[in-house]
Amino acid sequence: MKVVELVEVTKVYELPRGSVKALDNVTASIEAGEFISVMGPSGSGKTTFLNIIGCLDTPTGGTVEVGGENINGLDDEALTKIRRDKIGFVFQQFNLIATLTALENIEYPMILKGVNGHEEKSKELVSSVGLDEELGDNKPNELSGGEQQRVAIARALANDPDIILADEPTGNLDSKTSRDIMQLLKETNERGKTIIIVTHDPQVASYTKRTFRLVDGRIDSDGVFL
Ligand SMILES: Nc1ncnc2c1ncn2[C@@H]1O[C@H](COP(=O)(O)OP(=O)(O)OP(=O)(O)O)[C@@H](O)[C@H]1O
Ligand SMILES: [Mg+2]
Repeated sequence: MKVVELVEVTKVYELPRGSVKALDNVTASIEAGEFISVMGPSGSGKTTFLNIIGCLDTPTGGTVEVGGENINGLDDEALTKIRRDKIGFVFQQFNLIATLTALENIEYPMILKGVNGHEEKSKELVSSVGLDEELGDNKPNELSGGEQQRVAIARALANDPDIILADEPTGNLDSKTSRDIMQLLKETNERGKTIIIVTHDPQVASYTKRTFRLVDGRIDSDGVFL
């Protein structure tokens, strides 16, 4: 079953100094349960590609389907609902809420969705990502980078999304911690989540099963530029 399908997607940003084509006729299809890396030089469109799949950005042209739904022309409210129900995000800077504890950060998306039992579920998630239980009451600045990223992964999993999108999730971590986080993402994929990771690091990409390469906004998924 396909979970993501992009057909001839173009994204043009209009700037005062002219327009920038961040994505140029990108066609890509992702099956449920895939583990994919997205590589390419800085400015090649990787974040734009991920943000369009994550309904954080909308395409200028082409069609996009996420979780079986065509997202073209959906309003902000509908896009927010798709993000909340179907997608979990993990970022390079962790993006945890500084004033909330680890457990409260994980609970937050469940509270927004109105999920019952979020306190217990949050505790289960803390142990499922391999974080010491006693760290649950720590604020983000009382955690190491690797621990913060575990919390961010637990938060991404909170509403049991089909798709996890990660933009340079190991970009701020040392190489040992990077490997631990990739191992956790690999196990998460083995439990059935579709995962798409943007990375510059071939070591990180080596954990995934398929790599998309972007160059100047154009995609190459299997050795041939489309
Ligand atoms: N919101 C925006 N407004 C204007 N231009 C943008 C915007 N976002 C991205 N761009 C431009 O689109 C192109 C692709 O950017 P994108 O962030 O997708 O690249 P990237 O591959 O993620 O790069 P990096 O590896 O540095 O993170 C770049 O030329 C960038 O300057
Ligand atoms: Mg980027």
